[in-house]
Amino acid sequence: MTTTYAVLSEGLEKRFGDVRAVRGLDLAVAEGTVCGLLGPNGAGKTTAVRLLTTLLRPDAGSARVAGHDLVREAAAVRRRIGVTGQDTSVDGDLTGRQNLRLFARLLRLRDAAATVEGLLDRFGLTAAADRNVSTYSGGMRRRLDLAAGLLHRPAVLFLDEPTTGLDPAGRNLVQDAVRELKQRGTTVLLTTQYLEEADRLADDIAVLDHGHVAHTGSPAQLKSLIGTHAEVVVPHRDSLPRAAAVLDRLTGSAPVLDHERGAVGAVSTDPTLTLPRLVRELDAAGVPLLDASLRPPTLDDVFLRLTGRSPGASKTTGEVAA
Ligand SMILES: Nc1ncnc2c1ncn2[C@@H]1O[C@H](COP(=O)(O)OP(=O)(O)OP(=O)(O)O)[C@@H](O)[C@H]1O
Ligand SMILES: [Mg+2]
Repeated sequence: MTTTYAVLSEGLEKRFGDVRAVRGLDLAVAEGTVCGLLGPNGAGKTTAVRLLTTLLRPDAGSARVAGHDLVREAAAVRRRIGVTGQDTSVDGDLTGRQNLRLFARLLRLRDAAATVEGLLDRFGLTAAADRNVSTYSGGMRRRLDLAAGLLHRPAVLFLDEPTTGLDPAGRNLVQDAVRELKQRGTTVLLTTQYLEEADRLADDIAVLDHGHVAHTGSPAQLKSLIGTHAEVVVPHRDSLPRAAAVLDRLTGSAPVLDHERGAVGAVSTDPTLTLPRLVRELDAAGVPLLDASLRPPTLDDVFLRLTGRSPGASKTTGEVAA
């Protein structure tokens, strides 16, 4: 089966004066999938979204979005996509319902009234629908904004940090909406600072760093780059060397000893290393145990390793996870 790409960009560039916000962006998002664009502050996520949604014109490079050329067929791209920006676009002087009805009129939707009511309900805004948006909380505005982006059932939906600033309930509403959209065949490209969110929602992740894609892969693939962290805690420090020797043999990576805690850790990329096996081997070597654990890497570990920065941090720390 050949893959059809809902977003396919090659060498997209955008400069702001001296700042190369996006430099050589190559992105391929297969139709019907959710792609998570991850990157620290200033990595170029918003600029990439603005380019791919025709809100900015690229200085160089090309892209096809929803089957159309981004620059030559910008109007056709716009008809087939939805976008929710990092800042909301709803009008504070109108009520939630009026905002959605206005957008629906601009989009010339046929079943506007029913669509608007359905979206208000889905995003938990029915009770507040007749209040002016100026009285809404930040999370409510964001949900309304997202509803507006879904009015015309776009083929490709771009969400720039859709859950930033939402409480856990609001975050769940948005995440459920993304899953539901995917089930209906919509392609979603979302940027996020929350790695666990990308982990939960995204089929593929592109890690953006300094305006270009530094790494791509499924959450599982990116995590397998890092390996599982094995840790053993012993009751007496004199057993540490023996525990370290077992970890060394099982993982093939240099164990790190923490004498204070009586702990020794090592990173394993061997998928057959399980906790029972680790415990059996320690037992066979006569190592007394207080605790043994295998911690799969989080995407935070991946991110730190690939970019040298924590997500959300804007400065390079130069610190790289072992
Ligand atoms: N309109 C603009 N004029 C000048 N510089 C800009 C403009 N928009 C973005 N930049 C710069 O381009 C770079 C990338 O910014 P962008 O907003 O795309 O990053 P981001 O990954 O979305 O960051 P954040 O996580 O903070 O939202 C930054 O250095 C930013 O200062
Ligand atoms: Mg941004």
